[in-house]
Amino acid sequence: MHAITVSNLRNAHGGESMAHMRYKIWGDKAEQEGYPNIARLFRAIASAETVHAASHFRALKDQVGDKLCASMAVFGLGGTSQNLQGGIDGETYEITEMYPTFLETAKLQREKGAQLSFTYAFEGEKTHAALFQKAKQAIDSGKKDVNLGPVSVCTVCGWTCEGDLPDECPICNAKKDKFQTFA
Ligand SMILES: [Fe+2]
Ligand SMILES: [Fe+2]
Repeated sequence: MHAITVSNLRNAHGGESMAHMRYKIWGDKAEQEGYPNIARLFRAIASAETVHAASHFRALKDQVGDKLCASMAVFGLGGTSQNLQGGIDGETYEITEMYPTFLETAKLQREKGAQLSFTYAFEGEKTHAALFQKAKQAIDSGKKDVNLGPVSVCTVCGWTCEGDLPDECPICNAKKDKFQTFA
């Protein structure tokens, strides 16, 4: 595999792994602050980041060894509104800079496995940014919590939706039974 795509996959694996951990911590904080729906949202999206991290790791299956892995990561344990902004900022970076660039590079280098893994993550992060925005708007406008239906995560690609499930995942075509629902 080409070196730049290998590096991009490693760094994306690192970024997604840290996002998973960060969202679990921010989910616990939301629970403590009395926002059970936002806690549930953070936990659902944390699980989607696991799907992305695992997909990138699997795409690196032949790349054995102890390597430096670096990526952008949002830090800070503030109140839930601040933490949601951190989520929005991280997801926005991924969908406007990181994944479009990684994906174009993988296409240029004809790395099919990386292209698929980056496409899945790129599409999933769009849904995350929108859900975090909805949650932040709700509590910033004085609501007690965000009004949130069941949140479901495709365990194949990490695409995430609120409410009724489609018959198939719109990104990877997985069937309904491949979704995990956080209700
Ligand atoms: Fe995400
Ligand atoms: Fe999917």
